[in-house]
Amino acid sequence: MQRIDRDKLGNGWVSGLIQEELTKSGDYYEVSPVRIENREAVLSEIDRVKPTRVINTAGVRGFPNADWCEDHKDAAIRSNVIGAANLVDCCFLRGVHITHFASACIYDQDENHPLDGPGFTEEEPPNYGESFYSYSKLISEQAIKNYPNVLILRLRNPLAADLHPMNFITKLIRYEKLVNIANSGTIMTNMTPAAIILSKHRETGIFNFTNPGTFTHNEVMELTKTHIRPSLTWTNFSLEEQRRVLKAPRTNAKLDASKLVKTMAGYGYTILNAQDALAEAFTIMKAKGYK
Ligand SMILES: NC(=O)c1ccc[n+]([C@@H]2O[C@H](COP(=O)([O-])OP(=O)(O)OC[C@H]3O[C@@H](n4cnc5c(N)ncnc54)[C@H](OP(=O)(O)O)[C@@H]3O)[C@@H](O)[C@H]2O)c1
Repeated sequence: MQRIDRDKLGNGWVSGLIQEELTKSGDYYEVSPVRIENREAVLSEIDRVKPTRVINTAGVRGFPNADWCEDHKDAAIRSNVIGAANLVDCCFLRGVHITHFASACIYDQDENHPLDGPGFTEEEPPNYGESFYSYSKLISEQAIKNYPNVLILRLRNPLAADLHPMNFITKLIRYEKLVNIANSGTIMTNMTPAAIILSKHRETGIFNFTNPGTFTHNEVMELTKTHIRPSLTWTNFSLEEQRRVLKAPRTNAKLDASKLVKTMAGYGYTILNAQDALAEAFTIMKAKGYK
């Protein structure tokens, strides 16, 4: 069956990627106009639609970047904490499985987890909440993680084959100067189908939703230059210099994706390592004619 209301609702970036994938697989879905912190509206929406599953892509990261949350703390809490908890709780009350897109920006490298060492596993407690965005995502995850009906997918620097303003590629291109750090990331071209498969199988618990391995900011810029925009230039600066121009500190971290890789292999789906997934994403982008 086909989707409805796509042009009017669900205008978020990740929402669009999920809708595209659901459309491809012929799944029926509805996009909800309801604010997720509105308990009465969420409950009556669930009672009206009677969904078999819910996928939550609503949340705020802020634009042009997460610094926005430093000046809009109430909005960040209402969406990322109260909204997420309310939606999960309402789904719980109605016996509905929910897939929640969360953030992996709740970890920061430490002496046991250098960027070229072992990544943080799902069992290791988050260690980062210094920016208000990360703080809101950390509190949110703590609030919902024990519900038996929730699948938590931790995104990190998500990147897809487009130039949407929320895409990691677009974010990097916008900056005049970049740090060049290896981080884990979520290459949506490879990962969006995985999210749908996990949701369909009603998996629960937390997944580091990142491709195995890491990639640097410069690697993404090089690929953009090679495949999309030959005129692209950029300069690097240090973490200390970056800190001076940002309102809130940023995290750099490697996540262990082995739980995801193993689970998806069980469903016959391959999670590509970060480098291969990046190459695939840029090949698709080039074929789409992005410049
Ligand atoms: N993109 C990234 O870099 C990134 C990284 C890690 C995690 N994430 C998380 O992934 C999720 C999706 O991000 P995205 O990149 O798709 O962001 P996006 O393009 O800004 O989309 C977010 C969507 O959520 C909706 N929304 C926000 N608060 C809401 C609320 N209280 N009730 C109902 N809808 C609400 C927004 O609608 P309105 O505009 O109408 O408010 C918007 O359509 C977010 O939770 C984000 O924090 C994103």
